[in-house]
Amino acid sequence: MNKQERAIRIPDLAARKRRGEKITMLTAYDAAMARLLDRAGIDVILVGDSLGMVVMGEENTLRVTLDDMVHHTRAVRNGTKRALVIADMPFLTYQTCVADAVRNAGRLVQEGGAAAVKLEGGQAVAEVVSRLVEIGIPVMGHIGLTPQSVHKLGGFRRMGRRPDEVEQMLEDARTLEKSGAFAVVLESIPEETAAGITAELSIPTIGIGAGPYCDGQVLVSYDAFGLFEEGAPPFVKVYARLGDAIVEATREYIADVESGRYPAAEAKRAAR
Ligand code: KIV
Repeated sequence: MNKQERAIRIPDLAARKRRGEKITMLTAYDAAMARLLDRAGIDVILVGDSLGMVVMGEENTLRVTLDDMVHHTRAVRNGTKRALVIADMPFLTYQTCVADAVRNAGRLVQEGGAAAVKLEGGQAVAEVVSRLVEIGIPVMGHIGLTPQSVHKLGGFRRMGRRPDEVEQMLEDARTLEKSGAFAVVLESIPEETAAGITAELSIPTIGIGAGPYCDGQVLVSYDAFGLFEEGAPPFVKVYARLGDAIVEATREYIADVESGRYPAAEAKRAAR
């Protein structure tokens, strides 16, 4: 269990980095999962737009809407007491103009109850990040593999293989820090690049498929708990096989109902 008992706030993450303590983050999309992660002592719960893939069954994150995110953020918020709740801004809710970004991030905070938003990109979103921070909405950046650019990237591929990609990532990370982002996710990049960015920035880096030198780590909970085996990336450590457990339990239930074992005993107990 983490030492800090009170609710996690944005400045706590930078303090963790200064003290060399790792930050833990997992995704959740509903109150039930959020309650469990919170009980276990996770620092940050991300309502990721991975929602589109692991919950809605889409092949990428592009069809997730702001209404979807508000709905699920609110559910996660309702299940969380201690963890910091961050909501992803979905595709086209912040790229069109600063005014749209302010309105849409505002909904995630006001209606969803998020403490902060996450958005993808570096230099291209600097103006949006600055404005959101200026009006009091904390922003987490996200660079490297940015799933909302899946078509431009030509798939969910590792980034930073070419020197120009590494240079661009460094520039993006510096720009996000200068624009006021409080942390940045580094996704699917080489560990030495992640280590370099982590050493250079004073804000925390949160890695996913980016090696051990980031200030914290994030995983999609459905990947980590064996609920999305068909789509989990190779760097994921599977901490539980909940998918198998649910299939097993469902088979047992089917057999019980078909044989009459359920609800016979329970019905007798309830009737007493
Ligand atoms: O949408 C998501 O779950 C994310 C994480 C992979 C960082 O952005």
